[in-house]
Amino acid sequence: MRRKIVAGNWKMNKTLPEAKLLLTEIDTYIQSKPPKCEVIVGIPFVYIESAKANHKDLNVFSEDISEHRSGAYTGEVSAEMLKSIHADGAIIGHSERRQYHKETDEQIGAKVKIALDNGLTPIFCNGEVLEERKSGRHKEVVKRQTEVALFGLSPEDISKVIIAYEPVWAIGTGETATPEQAQEIHAYIRGLIATQYGNEIADSISILYGGSVKPSNAKEIFSKPDVDGGLIGGAALNINDFSALIDIYSEI
Ligand code: 13P
Repeated sequence: MRRKIVAGNWKMNKTLPEAKLLLTEIDTYIQSKPPKCEVIVGIPFVYIESAKANHKDLNVFSEDISEHRSGAYTGEVSAEMLKSIHADGAIIGHSERRQYHKETDEQIGAKVKIALDNGLTPIFCNGEVLEERKSGRHKEVVKRQTEVALFGLSPEDISKVIIAYEPVWAIGTGETATPEQAQEIHAYIRGLIATQYGNEIADSISILYGGSVKPSNAKEIFSKPDVDGGLIGGAALNINDFSALIDIYSEI
């Protein structure tokens, strides 16, 4: 059975008091009503230590990680540092990192590897931009991103990776991929993994969908057979929407 996951990506939002409030609301909610899916929160680096100190059972991820182990990399945060403050994992290769920080597939692959080497679970993001979708190259793009970043991993390592397919044209735009579009590309990604690593591993890896998921459209998307949950941006920033998404997925 694959892990079913609802993961939030807060991006660059919330002050410390706001972050503490939402983390407490999420923790209280899942303790009062244990979900039938895993819940992850991807939060700014600066809040991770306090999040884990106050909510040790919450799965807390960073939104990025350095590709380097340590040294003269001003402003970067290493896997070892994240592990030392009890982070559980890291979102890696988000399209906003690819777009605004020009991260390459090779760098993203190095980040995935260093996360795994330090016992952190990577959520590896892939997905095409609008022009690539319009010109019918979305599969080719997702294939390259996935192969370059992940296919150097051992079978044991890749089994620990969570994949998030996030079509860039659907992020923060209110436009979602249709459930059929999501299913098509999730099945395609799973097929790539099966070709490289075999069916058993491909069937065990969770592939999340991200891009304008909200309570009104989640049920249809989460119901697709190759969609194993969501990586949620805007709707992860308030307890009503986030808890509704957890409930919706728990009932599928
Ligand atoms: P939205 O849900 O705000 O579209 O963001 C999706 C996303 O980028 C999650 O990583």
